[in-house]
Amino acid sequence: MQKTYHIVTYGCQMNVHESEKIAGILRQNGYTQACETVEEADIVVFNTCCIRENAENHAMGNIGALKKVKRARPSMLIAVGGCMTQQDGAAQRLRKKFPFVDIVFGTHNLEDLGGMLARKSAQKKALVEVTQEKAIEEADISYRTSYPNAWVNIMYGCNNFCSYCIVPYVRGRERSRDPQAVIGEVHSLLEKGYREITLLGQNVNSYAEDRADGVTFPQLLRRICAGQGKFRLRFMTSNPKDFGEELVEAIAELPQVCKLVHLPVQAGSDRILKLMNRKYTAREYLSKVERLKKRIPGCEVTTDIMVGFPTETEEDFLQTLSLVRQADFSAAFTFVYSRRQGTKAAEMEGQIPEAVQKERIMRLVELVNEQTRAKSQTYLGKTVEILCEDHDKKRGLYLGRDEYGRMGYFPSEVNRVGEFVRMKVTDASGISLYGTAEAAGAKESE
Ligand code: SAH
Ligand code: SF4
Ligand code: F3S
Repeated sequence: MQKTYHIVTYGCQMNVHESEKIAGILRQNGYTQACETVEEADIVVFNTCCIRENAENHAMGNIGALKKVKRARPSMLIAVGGCMTQQDGAAQRLRKKFPFVDIVFGTHNLEDLGGMLARKSAQKKALVEVTQEKAIEEADISYRTSYPNAWVNIMYGCNNFCSYCIVPYVRGRERSRDPQAVIGEVHSLLEKGYREITLLGQNVNSYAEDRADGVTFPQLLRRICAGQGKFRLRFMTSNPKDFGEELVEAIAELPQVCKLVHLPVQAGSDRILKLMNRKYTAREYLSKVERLKKRIPGCEVTTDIMVGFPTETEEDFLQTLSLVRQADFSAAFTFVYSRRQGTKAAEMEGQIPEAVQKERIMRLVELVNEQTRAKSQTYLGKTVEILCEDHDKKRGLYLGRDEYGRMGYFPSEVNRVGEFVRMKVTDASGISLYGTAEAAGAKESE
């Protein structure tokens, strides 16, 4: 009998990729089959997030729901890892609330999950392993399921301490991977046929500042692309405070680097940006966006925006709306500020009532949607290049993204997953694009 596993992932792409690492470790330890539901799994792993309260509530609810399943089938193992467990006292709270959980492990302990499984099998009581920073594992242990896309960590942790953010507390200080190891991993993925690589870090612009190699992030991009053929290279996230000319040039010059930059702005009011400890003004941010668009024709920018930060006034919020209009983002992730225990902002006076936060997020989302739809419309009748990544059974269509991350759907008789497909856009009325694909190997037109 094959032993089965089920991983539930919350949070950012870093976590999605770390779940691939968890899958890799499980598969090396006898759990060889992924299964669709928790009910049938021999082990369930929750890879949690604590960036906002609702992410935590979501995980808590789903862990709690396993109580009955565990009672009916006590041999099933339940493990909880990820950012939530790494908060002060969180492991103890989790144990108390969910005594049926078998293993609790921190973000710094993930790579030792194999060892934890062995240790757990030798003891009856729950195993809790949440430690502080540890050395970086350079080997690629991931069991990847996202072909033709692949994520590659270039650094862990964060030194920025934006006043609202829990990440530096749960992920530790910045630690960059060896550039040779990163380049080797990317090249090996390309050899295996992966077509889109996304480099991950909380602030990729400060890559390797903690190392003595003297390699900057733009240089890393150049070394990754050198001598390579066609593929897509993306990265996230860039902090605007460190986004410089050298990087603009690398994006402009390297054909493989997507002309799409995710540059979280958070707010449009200088007073709020200062309280957030973001270290740039709205004007500085806008001039970086302008510089990018000028140097790289067709370059698009996406962002993260937060509303309802402590003391945010209607006037501050209007400045955020105004910045959104000026920056002309092609997409934006919008969030309501969530008070995170242990952060500076959690202690600030002037926390904003929920009703005000809700009203502001609705106005912001309306504006962002309006802009995204208007951008979509400009695609009508054009031909875009989609990297086909999956088949949507419900719609009966293949899907993928263009260079700018826009989802495109098209019908095809043959499997096109993993191919760059030229698609003529026939419907761009929503956020996604629909169209018809040129046959494989069709001549480039236009
Ligand atoms: N390192 C990235 C962001 C990681 S978190 C960066 O600096 O841009 C992703 C997004 O979550 C952030 O950009 C921010 O908009 C949002 N976020 C972080 N902490 C939050 C909080 N306490 N409440 C609401 N949103 C938050
Ligand atoms: Fe959080 Fe700021 Fe670090 Fe991003 S840069 S992870 S928002 S502290
Ligand atoms: Fe990511 Fe959430 Fe952790 S956003 S870094 S999984 S707190």
